[in-house]
Amino acid sequence: MNNSTIITIFFILLSLIEIVLTTRKVKDLIVVSVSTHITDGFERFNRSLKIYGLKSEILGLNQPWKGGDVARQSGGGQKIRLLRQYLESIRNEHDNRLILFTDSYDVIVNGNSDEIVKKFQTFNANVVFSSEKYCWPDVSLAASYPKSDGKRYLNSGGFIGFATELYKIVNLAQDLNDDDDDQLFYTKIYLEQKYRKHFGIRLDLNSYLFQNLNGEIGDVEIRFNNIDHEDYPHVLMAIIILKPTPFFPEFLDYLKSMDYPKNRITIFIQSNTDFHNEQIGEFSENSGKFHKNFQYSETKLANEWQLRNNYLDECQRINCDYLFVVDSDVRLTNSKTLHELIEANRSIIAPMLVRPKEYWSNFWGTITNDGYYSRSHDYVQIIKNERRGIWNVPFISSCYLIKSSTILNQENFQTKNQQWKFPLSYRNHQQPQHKNDDIDGNGNGGGESLDPEMYFCHILRLNGIFMFVTNENDYGHLAQMDTIDFQLKHSEFYEIYTNEIEWRKRYIHENYTKNLLDDNIIEQPCHDVYWFPIVTPVFCQHLIEIMENNGEWSAGKNEDPRLAGGYENVPTVDIHMKQVGLEQQWLYFLREYVRPVQEKIFIGYYHDPPQAIMNFVVRYHPNEQAFLRPHHDASTYTVNIALNRPNIDYEGGGCRFIRQNCSITNLRVGWSLIHPGRLTHFHEGLTVTKGVRYIMVSFVDP
Ligand SMILES: *[C@@H]1O[C@H](CO)[C@@H](O)[C@H](O)[C@H]1NC(C)=O
Ligand SMILES: *[C@@H]1O[C@H](CO)[C@@H](O)[C@H](O)[C@H]1NC(C)=O
Ligand SMILES: *[C@@H]1O[C@H](CO)[C@@H](O)[C@H](O)[C@H]1NC(C)=O
Ligand SMILES: *[C@@H]1O[C@H](CO)[C@@H](O)[C@H](O)[C@H]1NC(C)=O
Repeated sequence: MNNSTIITIFFILLSLIEIVLTTRKVKDLIVVSVSTHITDGFERFNRSLKIYGLKSEILGLNQPWKGGDVARQSGGGQKIRLLRQYLESIRNEHDNRLILFTDSYDVIVNGNSDEIVKKFQTFNANVVFSSEKYCWPDVSLAASYPKSDGKRYLNSGGFIGFATELYKIVNLAQDLNDDDDDQLFYTKIYLEQKYRKHFGIRLDLNSYLFQNLNGEIGDVEIRFNNIDHEDYPHVLMAIIILKPTPFFPEFLDYLKSMDYPKNRITIFIQSNTDFHNEQIGEFSENSGKFHKNFQYSETKLANEWQLRNNYLDECQRINCDYLFVVDSDVRLTNSKTLHELIEANRSIIAPMLVRPKEYWSNFWGTITNDGYYSRSHDYVQIIKNERRGIWNVPFISSCYLIKSSTILNQENFQTKNQQWKFPLSYRNHQQPQHKNDDIDGNGNGGGESLDPEMYFCHILRLNGIFMFVTNENDYGHLAQMDTIDFQLKHSEFYEIYTNEIEWRKRYIHENYTKNLLDDNIIEQPCHDVYWFPIVTPVFCQHLIEIMENNGEWSAGKNEDPRLAGGYENVPTVDIHMKQVGLEQQWLYFLREYVRPVQEKIFIGYYHDPPQAIMNFVVRYHPNEQAFLRPHHDASTYTVNIALNRPNIDYEGGGCRFIRQNCSITNLRVGWSLIHPGRLTHFHEGLTVTKGVRYIMVSFVDP
């Protein structure tokens, strides 16, 4: 009998059996694991079973492992064979018995039988597999997965299900060899829709049941899953502000949402500028509730050497376990960063941070003989994440975690020439007096341009202490500090392409990306007039304030010297983006944020980049210009964003499309209308009767 006959017969049987997915009772839960030999990891696993009083069955003990090297390659068919034999042996007891099958070397159990069963029941499934971020071992199967959020790909390292269904599933593996891949086998079952349905298989997309420890065999690093908050290492988070920083509130927000017990972090902020005092004040007020310790010192006279020395001193004073240095140009978008750096268990380690679209990062790939920057052969691959790992590098900066026990409290921390002694301190640094000062005792001079972090890393290298940078995950990026002009009103508004990620976070509507989803239907309040969320209320407020601060509103007359022809047929009271230096930014905005929506709505029209000469904020006011008479726009399509609130900031107003006999008056802040400019969409601006109404208008592709 070949495979397909087995499957066919099997399905005839299946169709006779009603599967009731919902209120199925559970008799008991047995944890089943394959472990051919006892390791530290297994013993940890076994202890956790005992703590939670779980019944267990360990299969394959003292049998030779034939399942391949699963840490590095695929394999594990042996596990399926052992599970099948086991389920066969308890065949008569299958009735509503739940089996939790899991690896053991890199797993701990973290709940009792009741909790596990309860969670399992919420899935309304017969079998639930854990899931992971990567599609393994056959990447090409990724496309066959059903669409979903969360960790989408099946991981066979842990699954739970009724013995009856599991038995049927593993019985499909009759021809599997011991070194065939178990995950591939289960993946194929899962991806076959008919199996998925008949067996009632689901994935634990959000790690509700399974928190895989993401470890390899032999992994003995610090794991937080089983320790009390009070036992977390105490971290001194040293925030260094050397100069005014764009998107400073966002910088703090990222730190605030760091996933780590707040009472195990002491925050120590030092700044040599008073530019951010107000924001720091707010931060400290909010943080006070969470952090036992918060210190801020504004040390304007101090130089960077002193600031950095202060945090070393502070770490020793409060006896911190770790010192986490974060400069204000650091953007830690991954809230697990601190966790992961601690877990890496290195003396000093930096999360890899790169300036978007640049080669500028917080580490050096290699170093010249005289101690300066040099690019290693793999530098570009690493910063582009084409290679991932933990890298031993000669220089790190801006953000790093220092284990105080291995560096700061190291008695024998000395350099070869005894010039620097414990404790490691910036204070011991003597600014070289002249070019030939022997900076490293090796006859290499030229120390004048050493900055404090170069000095620090230099000392570490002299002492044979390895520095690491990790890009095992994405942790964040570096801000662009040099482009911003703080003289401008709402200067960050201008940073749309230079600090794009935070600009987006602050100014682009949180539901903007939903517009672009295939199954999202964009509202159409009038025929061929579309309406979608695009920017935040903060965007609207800042743009209004930028314009009012500029104040050079046009007179609303036909004569308009700002235009090439000097004449405007249907004039408004407005200020052009060009007048406030935002023309390039606005064109970028049209291209990045408007164009994709346009292409979705008006199918077949591609014009990249969009062009627009008329980009302006209009002000409607009862005593100034209160309405706009019917007209066509000089555009292929027109973008019209509401900047303030009807019935609150103003009364009346709105836009009326005459041919369509359709008005839109209940405008929404930060939402844009988009409509064809000519011929079909003759329209007018309705009268504002009270207050001031602002809209942002752009005539695209005139
Ligand atoms: C697991 O732990 C139990 C005690 O909880 C012990 O009796 C058993 O021998 C251990 N299993 C193995 C395989 O070491
Ligand atoms: C961390 O690494 C050191 C060696 O560098 C090792 O002795 C120690 O056991 C490790 N700690 C943990 C918790 O993994
Ligand atoms: C985004 O969409 C969700 C779901 O429709 C909604 O609840 C939320 O309020 C929207 N966000 C904003 C800022 O409007
Ligand atoms: C325009 O719409 C209004 C109601 O919205 C309706 O009363 C009126 O008859 C319409 N006019 C035309 C010409 O269709």
